[in-house]
Amino acid sequence: MNTVNVKAEHDYSVFIGCEWSSTLVNKLSGRTRVALVVSSSFVPDLSSIKAIDADVHVFEVPDGEDAKSQATLMALWNWLGAAGFTRSDLIVGIGGGAVTDLSGFAAATWLRGIDWIAVPTSLAGMVDAAVGGKTGINSDYGKNLIGSFHSPQSVLIDLNFLKTLSERDFCAGMAEVIKCGFIDDHEILNLASSLDRNNLLSDFLLLEDLITRAVAVKAKVVSADFKESFAREALNYGHTLGHAVEIYAKYQLRHGEAVSIGMVFVAELAHSRGLISTEVLQQHRDLLSKFDLPISYDRQAWQKLAPLLALDKKARGNTLRFVALQGIGATVRLEDLSSDELDAAYERISS
Ligand SMILES: NC(=O)c1ccc[n+]([C@@H]2O[C@H](COP(=O)([O-])OP(=O)(O)OC[C@H]3O[C@@H](n4cnc5c(N)ncnc54)[C@H](O)[C@@H]3O)[C@@H](O)[C@H]2O)c1
Repeated sequence: MNTVNVKAEHDYSVFIGCEWSSTLVNKLSGRTRVALVVSSSFVPDLSSIKAIDADVHVFEVPDGEDAKSQATLMALWNWLGAAGFTRSDLIVGIGGGAVTDLSGFAAATWLRGIDWIAVPTSLAGMVDAAVGGKTGINSDYGKNLIGSFHSPQSVLIDLNFLKTLSERDFCAGMAEVIKCGFIDDHEILNLASSLDRNNLLSDFLLLEDLITRAVAVKAKVVSADFKESFAREALNYGHTLGHAVEIYAKYQLRHGEAVSIGMVFVAELAHSRGLISTEVLQQHRDLLSKFDLPISYDRQAWQKLAPLLALDKKARGNTLRFVALQGIGATVRLEDLSSDELDAAYERISS
C-alpha cells in the first residue's frame, strides 16, 4: 500500500492499494452515526461496515450526474436530519466522482460542515475527484456550479474496485492519469505506455504505481494552492476545450474523453508556438489513442465550440487562458492567442 499526504484546510492521507472495508472499519471507531452514500447502480458489499458498533445508515442515490442534483442533495439532507446526524457524525461517499462530489458537499453543508471519508471506485474518482477537496453539485445553469472546498478526512483507494469498472470508464480515467504525466511526471507516461492494453488489470503493482504517481501530482498541486489561484490551474491542462466539448456534446462524452480532445488541441497550440517538439505532440496522440480516447473532433463543431471557450473558469474578461506545456513537466499560461491560431489548431484536430 502507498500513502500520499495532502495539505489543505486540514492535512489528510490518500491510501492507495488498501483493502477499503477493513481500513474504513478501523477509521470508524468512536463514531456514533455513519452515513454510507452509494449509487443505486453500484452497491459494494457493506456487511462488515454495517456490523460495527455504530448506527450505520445506507443512503442510495441515483447513478451518475443524477446524484449531483439539487433534489438528491435535498433528499440526503432530509435523511441526515431524520437519522439525527450531529457534528461528530460522519459521511462516507463510496462510488465514482459523482457520489464523492455529492457526499463531500453534503458533509460540507450539513451543520456547516461535518467529517467525511472518500472511497472512490472509478479510476477518475481515484486520481481526480476524491482528491483535492472540491465538492459540489450541478445547477440548471451548468455542472459543478454549486460547491465548496471541504477536504475529506482520508481517501481509501482499493484497486479491486477497478475489476468491475467498464473499460470505457477505465480509459476515461486514464486521460486524467496521462494529463498528470504531461504536466508533472514523465514516468507516468512510461508506465501508461507499458500497461497491457489487452489486459488492463494484469499488473496491479504497475497500476498501483501509476495511480500513486497521479495522486501525488494532484496532491502536490493542491497542497501548494488549495483554493485554486494560479498553481492549481495546471490541473486544467486540456480542460478549456474539453469543457466546451462536454457542453457541446450535451455531456454524452465522458469527462476524460473530452479532456483528451482538449489536450491534443492545446498540444497543437503549444507546438505551433515552438513550446513542445513534434515528438511530444505525437506522444499525446499515441498515448491517448492507446486507450481509445478521442484525439480529433467534428470540424463543423468549431463554430459552436469557439464561443463556448469563453465560459471557461480560467477566462478573465475577454481573454482566453489556456494551460499549455513548455516541454513535458512544465506548464505555462497562454493568453495571447489570436483567432487564427485557434482556428488553425482546431483544423489540425478536426475530423
Ligand atoms: N471534485 C473534483 O475535483 C472532481 C474532479 C473530476 C471530476 N469530478 C466529478 O466526478 C464525476 C465524474 O466521475 P466518474 O467518472 O467517476 O463518473 P461517475 O461517478 O458518474 O461514475 C461513472 C459510472 O461508473 C460506475 N461505477 C463507478 N465505480 C464503479 C465500479 N467500481 N464498478 C462498476 N461501476 C462503477 C458508476 O456507477 C457510474 O455509472 C463528475 O461529476 C465530475 O464533475 C470532480
